[in-house]
Amino acid sequence: MSAFPLLSDRPRVHQSFLYDARGVALYEGILGTPEYYLPAAEEALLQANLDALTAPLSSRLALVELGAGDGGRTRRLAAEPLVYAPADISAESLSLNEAGFRGSEPLAARRAEGWTAAFTLNALSHVNDITGTDFDTADWRHVAEYDAASTSVRTHVEARRAVVLSVPAEGGGRRELRRFAAGERVFVEQSRKFSEEETRRLAEAAGLRLSRSWASDDYLIAELVRGSA
Ligand SMILES: C[S@@+](CC[C@H](N)C(=O)[O-])C[C@H]1O[C@@H](n2cnc3c(N)ncnc32)[C@H](O)[C@@H]1O
Repeated sequence: MSAFPLLSDRPRVHQSFLYDARGVALYEGILGTPEYYLPAAEEALLQANLDALTAPLSSRLALVELGAGDGGRTRRLAAEPLVYAPADISAESLSLNEAGFRGSEPLAARRAEGWTAAFTLNALSHVNDITGTDFDTADWRHVAEYDAASTSVRTHVEARRAVVLSVPAEGGGRRELRRFAAGERVFVEQSRKFSEEETRRLAEAAGLRLSRSWASDDYLIAELVRGSA
């Protein structure tokens, strides 16, 4: 994975850098924080509609899950898939996923403060591990802003002070890669909500059809199937 977008005028760190072993653990921590209401909203909707959701799954030959993570929620839905194929960029997630399906103990205890900031800043440490850059997470703060127009939360890291970023030089020593001014931001992630109508439109553009859906005030579960309406 290249860190090249870091050098652009609108620098970014690809969101896949959020997920190394530590990132996966921190994400699990976020799921357990009381202010992150989505897991509880999802759980309530799953629970209320479990029979309808799981009924068609038992006859499926294979369940392929993209970005499966630890598979915790999937285990609720797919008690007996003949084949389960989780795909995830994180090897750690897949190990946890496998352990979960084999019936091992659940993940480490959750709930502490500052999970989200630690999760975002950990992406910089992950970039260091992969590319040899020298981000010091103490130089950066996590900034998450809600944009009502696009119903999305945009997450950046913002330089607390002027930062000079360097990488190992070929002949030894270090080579300056770029400078960040105090207050300059690096884009990390956008998390967006989609209405049922938007989901339907996106699905159709991708050759899929929204066949069934379940909604509460805070959450939407949509079933997409191949083929147009
Ligand atoms: C927000 S988590 C969701 C995990 C799980 N689906 C759940 O609902 O708990 C996103 C997952 O996508 C994975 N992921 C992120 N970028 C990816 C990529 N480019 N390819 C495959 N997996 C990716 C992450 O490792 C992570 O497990």
